[in-house]
Amino acid sequence: MKITLINGSQRHAKHSQSLKVAKYIEAELIKLKVCDETHLISMMDKPYPLWDEGIWDGDAQWKELLEPIANELTSSDAFVIIVPEYHGMAPAALKNFLLMHNKHQIGHKPALLVGVSSADGGAYSVAEMRMNSAKNNRLCYIPEQLIIRNVESVLNEDKADNNKDADSYFKERIAFALDILGEYAVALKKVRASGKTHDDKFNNGM
Ligand SMILES: Cc1cc2nc3c(=O)[nH]c(=O)nc-3n(C[C@H](O)[C@H](O)[C@H](O)COP(=O)(O)O)c2cc1C
Repeated sequence: MKITLINGSQRHAKHSQSLKVAKYIEAELIKLKVCDETHLISMMDKPYPLWDEGIWDGDAQWKELLEPIANELTSSDAFVIIVPEYHGMAPAALKNFLLMHNKHQIGHKPALLVGVSSADGGAYSVAEMRMNSAKNNRLCYIPEQLIIRNVESVLNEDKADNNKDADSYFKERIAFALDILGEYAVALKKVRASGKTHDDKFNNGM
């Protein structure tokens, strides 16, 4: 089983807390045996420029950019999507990324949303993703979600930097959510294999 993590942070790795969260979760996925393979895609690496019509026109440059990532997504069974809150929004680069990938790559696969906030926020970006990022690609956000609040004080390698109680709470909660994601990954494989999820008449969601 392969799980791909999509880190929504657009900030340089030096500043990004979401990358820290992504790397912690990536290690846990293997440690807890939720999957045996992971892949991490980070918006801070600027995988794509802004969407343009060339994608639909089969532009060679776009094809070259899209194909390697599309292959990683297609071979994944589930996703963890880390969504820092930027002025109450999901990062624009993450929404742009989701314009590029379709139901053949991510449709009917489970995704765990992980909100990140340096303070007590983080809920808006997760709610935004649930509301308007999966109509056509049919990505399945599972009901369980995580919001890593006061992120600077948890999941740090140096224990001295952690709020002990918050750190152990989030670690337990992350393990709980990842186990659930693993079960959805197994269950939704069957849904996709049923052949009932694609119909050319209903190419897009309503
Ligand atoms: C442009 C910008 C806007 C932000 N707006 C919010 C916000 O509305 N709510 C919030 O809780 N944190 C906000 N933050 C702080 C982030 O939660 C913080 O940067 C956190 O570390 C997650 O993002 P990062 O991984 O990109 O660093 C904002 C950060 C940036 C860079």
